Amino acid sequence: MARSSMAFLAVFVAAAAAAGSCLPAAAAGGPLPPAGTPLSFREGYTQLFGDSNLALHGDGKRVHISLDERTGAGFASQGAYLHGLFSARIKLPADYTAGVVVAFYMSNGDVYERTHDELDFEFLGNVRGREWRVQTNVYGNGSTAAGREERYGLWFDPTEDFHRYAILWSRDRIIFYVDETPIREVVRTESMGAQFPSKPMSLYATIWDGSSWATSGGRYKVDYKYAPYVAEFADLALRGCEVGRRAREEPGGAAAPAMSPAQRSAMEAFRARYMTYGYCYDRLRYPAPLPECSVGPEAAAFFPSGDGRAALRRRGRRHRTRAGADSAV
Ligand SMILES: *[C@@H]1O[C@H](CO)[C@@H](O)[C@H](O)[C@H]1NC(C)=O
Repeated sequence: MARSSMAFLAVFVAAAAAAGSCLPAAAAGGPLPPAGTPLSFREGYTQLFGDSNLALHGDGKRVHISLDERTGAGFASQGAYLHGLFSARIKLPADYTAGVVVAFYMSNGDVYERTHDELDFEFLGNVRGREWRVQTNVYGNGSTAAGREERYGLWFDPTEDFHRYAILWSRDRIIFYVDETPIREVVRTESMGAQFPSKPMSLYATIWDGSSWATSGGRYKVDYKYAPYVAEFADLALRGCEVGRRAREEPGGAAAPAMSPAQRSAMEAFRARYMTYGYCYDRLRYPAPLPECSVGPEAAAFFPSGDGRAALRRRGRRHRTRAGADSAV
């Protein structure tokens, strides 16, 4: 065998061994792994809609998508992935953004019309002086009748700087991260069955008009006087088991070990302080919690509507200290 093909074989074998789990190794309960070398937009993504409302910057490594009175915009990864770590650094539009939705998510809705899977970060705009809300959601095997929404505030202003938002999806757990902090973990349970996403998905990013629901249940709508609304994406990272390309996953899929105790307590501290809604606590919508919910004493922090009492207290404080602030939730 020629020397060059030996070298090629060695690289190939190493790649195949690494592909045993195509999740980044550090996903093993340690800190959030680095994004790796991002693909440029042209290498890894395609525009879905919004013609000139998608613009590339910085050598095709940064993407701006915008919403104006004509259209929103969106793009998707060219490949589909079974498990992996998917992240982007995102900067959201500032000022009045009520009704605006920026979504960063995994989905296979274009392949499986009735049995699709989805993992969502949705950023919900707000009126001036009020923070963006972040929502996460999980659908599996077309379970659109059972929303698993959670909503949170953030400890920073997401319109001032780029922050990293990541979804770690393994065979047995899903973790959503904001910067280094895990904010939500979904553990696969037997009772969830196929409602735990288990088919290859692509990565999507979109901006659109969600006036009918996004801000205070639709009370505050997009005002195109403030358009265009521009969401900036950088360091888009796909580190997963790409279907039909090099990395193949072993049968059953990649496992990610549990979070470290330090990460778990960071997550719990975040949730105690910043969670504004949790479907597991929503007794109006789900008189009996969905099977994967293990509701403990923390439920006392939520109203029967699923809305967090702590969030209400924080709003109350701000309301008193900032005279004239409007009352958008
Ligand atoms: C997924 O949903 C379809 C349609 O409802 C159902 O026929 C199928 O059994 C489900 N798959 C699993 C693995 O439960």
